[in-house]
Amino acid sequence: MAKVKTSFFCQNCGTQFAKWQGQCTSCKEWNTLVEEVIQKEDKPSWKTSQATTQRTSKPQKVSEISTAADLRMDTRNQELNRVLGGGLVPGSLTLLGGEPGIGKSTLMLQVALKLPHKTLYVSGEESAQQIKMRAERIAPKAEHCYILTETKTQNIFRHIADLEPDTVIIDSIQTLQTDYIESTAGSISQIRECTAELIKFAKETNTPVVLIGHITKDGHIAGPKILEHMVDTVLQFEGDRNHVYRILRAHKNRFGSTNELGIYEMQGEGLREVSNPSEVLISKNDEDLSGTAIAATLEGMRPLMIELQALVSTAVYGTPQRSATGYNAKRLNMLLAVLEKRAGFKLGAKDVFLNITGGISVDDPAIDLAVVAAVLSSNIDVAIDKTLCFAAEIGLAGEVRPVTRIEQRILEAEKLGFRAIVISKYAKVPKHSFSIQIIKVAKVHDVVQHLFG
Ligand code: TYD
Ligand code: MG
Repeated sequence: MAKVKTSFFCQNCGTQFAKWQGQCTSCKEWNTLVEEVIQKEDKPSWKTSQATTQRTSKPQKVSEISTAADLRMDTRNQELNRVLGGGLVPGSLTLLGGEPGIGKSTLMLQVALKLPHKTLYVSGEESAQQIKMRAERIAPKAEHCYILTETKTQNIFRHIADLEPDTVIIDSIQTLQTDYIESTAGSISQIRECTAELIKFAKETNTPVVLIGHITKDGHIAGPKILEHMVDTVLQFEGDRNHVYRILRAHKNRFGSTNELGIYEMQGEGLREVSNPSEVLISKNDEDLSGTAIAATLEGMRPLMIELQALVSTAVYGTPQRSATGYNAKRLNMLLAVLEKRAGFKLGAKDVFLNITGGISVDDPAIDLAVVAAVLSSNIDVAIDKTLCFAAEIGLAGEVRPVTRIEQRILEAEKLGFRAIVISKYAKVPKHSFSIQIIKVAKVHDVVQHLFG
């Protein structure tokens, strides 16, 4: 009988060790090493497997490789296509990560149901009946989607050989198990081996495979970091579970840019693609409310108009509270200090709350100016003209600084019918004329003057 090989794996970073030790020398975490059986029996070595399996690829001249294989598969989901850089690449492995309940299964099932060719959706998490119930709500008349509830990769491959699907979706990689490894499903060596088998399958048959992966508490995809290195594309599905908007981003993409972003809205019958996000993120009430300002931000490469709300009130308790939702609280404190020192506003004894509507979070510094405007507006209880928007960063000296891609931001504001946009005096605005008025300011003080006279 073959010797059973075991090894120790750090459950945090995936580093392999021959012996147990208290601290992982790679990621410095304590007590994360777990013994895992890595090989039940001798796997055929590279040489013997070469003799038994037929050769599937051979060296080719670069000039002779046809690029037809790079044709993208349209997923029939424009937001997903955009994030992938045009669609699924045949033979590629895509990993979709996200917190539990965010909608990963819903998104991929929706894609599987709408694809115009044979798609196999393998689920190790839900029963076929559960999936069917969900599918009926999303697309009751799907013709080409097959559901398989199975977790053993060898069985999955057997079914794939019979069915010959054009796309395979695995929900989730943490539930898969291969016969060659004895450790439990979801362990690092299982995840790594199952992924390796799927990569082999994808590359040899030129079938795109999408893996769904869970993420851990600290926001990483559960399993070894190398999983992210193994796959071609890593997508992340984010959002606030209590809000309807979800954002899909690419963290890694071998076939396209990682700057693109997709926006979805969770509805009763699945995820709706939001192709014009600016319009949904700005509330449409006609009243003039103080404490509201609109920022022209960029999410990835996409201009996005968002609404900020601030509430400034006298602190009832000793220490004033500062809280920000969707925005960096430290940055809010910094802006408040700038306002105090450079514009003479006494906010030290006030509670300040800031909220980005729609449950999205933004780390684009270009929204600084809108934050300041919203805070000031709430402080003196005077509404800001609703046809005005902002795009500039604020420096510690109270200077209004230019931001990247200002032209795109101006164009988006213009497209949505804003009357004017407030930007930095030093921003390089292209020569051609815009129909929107451009207001240039140099200091926080100028903004105050302009807004509230
Ligand atoms: P799910 O796709 O199961 O999340 P994940 O696979 O990332 O864990 O999504 C679960 C949530 O989505 C659940 O709370 C219900 C909600 N949902 C809807 O609001 N509408 C729908 O049509 C579907 C299918 C789910
Ligand atoms: Mg799921």
